[in-house]
Amino acid sequence: MASSDTLTITDNRTGKTYELPISEGTIRAIDLRQIKSGAEDFGLMTYDPAFMNTAACRSAITFIDGDKGILEYRGYPIEQLAEKSTYLETAYLLLKGELPNESQLKEWQHTITYHTILNENLKGVLDSFRYNAHPMGMLISMISALGTFYPEAKNIYDEEVRHKQIERLIAKMITIAAFGYRHMVGMPYAYPDNDLSYPGNFLNMMYKTTEVKYQPHPALERALDVLFILHADHEQNCSTSAMRSIGSSQVDPYSAVAGAAAALYGPLHGGANEQVIRMLTEIGSISNIPDFIKRVKAGDGVKLMGFGHRVYKNYDPRAKIIKKVAYEVFDVTGKSPLLDIALELEKIALEDEYFVKRKLYPNVDFYSGLIYQAMQFPMDMFPVLFAIPRVSGWLSQWQEMLLDSDQKIARPRQIFTGSARRDYVGMGERKA
Ligand code: ACO
Repeated sequence: MASSDTLTITDNRTGKTYELPISEGTIRAIDLRQIKSGAEDFGLMTYDPAFMNTAACRSAITFIDGDKGILEYRGYPIEQLAEKSTYLETAYLLLKGELPNESQLKEWQHTITYHTILNENLKGVLDSFRYNAHPMGMLISMISALGTFYPEAKNIYDEEVRHKQIERLIAKMITIAAFGYRHMVGMPYAYPDNDLSYPGNFLNMMYKTTEVKYQPHPALERALDVLFILHADHEQNCSTSAMRSIGSSQVDPYSAVAGAAAALYGPLHGGANEQVIRMLTEIGSISNIPDFIKRVKAGDGVKLMGFGHRVYKNYDPRAKIIKKVAYEVFDVTGKSPLLDIALELEKIALEDEYFVKRKLYPNVDFYSGLIYQAMQFPMDMFPVLFAIPRVSGWLSQWQEMLLDSDQKIARPRQIFTGSARRDYVGMGERKA
């Protein structure tokens, strides 16, 4: 470390000066603890609600440059993975750090395919949900219930056991998700078909009716695979932070994934694509767009859903790919009547000073809902479609956390703002 790679801090309360090392563009928050106003002082902390400027881990999995619109998994640009990879290959890359060779990929695909079946008792859990239960609520409960079938899963530091649970979770996500849908629409469960690809098998379990063998449309199967690749990981977002935080208690991965899925369920995270469809439907026609834009700019609580991002201050690279996929899907399904409204909305917003000044660009959710809708997925299933591939990201981040000697149980500090010590007041002495 060059001597200039330090931060000099003068505490004006005491006049003392401290020199803190800067490494990888950060200072260690714990180094601030030595800065005390007196012997009784606990030491300086940072206050950072929502982790706006705090790195909680070192990670080698996903890289994002939000200003330039760059997203890479293990160094590979998302555009190249979306064009050339499959979701299962990408999941392998995220988990293991390198692309598999031919035999490794074959073995991985075989392992995942042959772990898609659920224990029949789990169907009883699903059957106990009402017909109108939200599929995300069912998914969260089913992941947690799944964990109870594998008590050995708590041995998280046993590499073989850990890998087995990773395989089971990735494999069974499509089965749980599809079974939840079948329960919702009152159709008999369709079992996995080992001849099909991962996305093809999911479509099979979703839509198979009375045909002997379900054949997914290759273009739709590929489109779903690309969407899975795009949603597989996104570094330290809300659900991934939840996964790491829950996992830091050394609980089994099923419990941690159920918690991460619960975080994803929220409308500020996995639910925005549904809001885009609602917004486009409400706008209704191109002639209503100028009025809608006016309402957004007036700031009276109306937002252009599917626009803006905490990290991307440029076109979300995933949105570019999804827009292309949307056309490929519409070639098969017919064009969504909402597409023209979306295109015009995007065109106007990208030229409008309000959006340009605030660097608001389409995000991953702007076009994904249109694709899901064209593929006949009900809106309630949209966050489930997000959760299926994100499991590989959550598990990669969880495993990295477990093997990182810097990590301990997650335990943030607080600034206490409550009452100072006081004595208990008996009921008779309390004010009315
Ligand atoms: N429409 C209109 N104005 C917007 C929008 C939008 N979609 N997004 C941000 N702005 C405005 C804000 O009002 C604010 O304006 P101001 O400076 O005049 O007060 C400015 O742009 C900055 O926005 P912030 O809210 O500070 O940005 P933040 O990083 O906190 O929020 C978020 C990011 C939540 C994604 C926001 O852009 C948003 O709500 N977008 C719509 C919802 C959406 O599409 N979410 C999906 C995100 S992608 C994902 O999670 C997978």
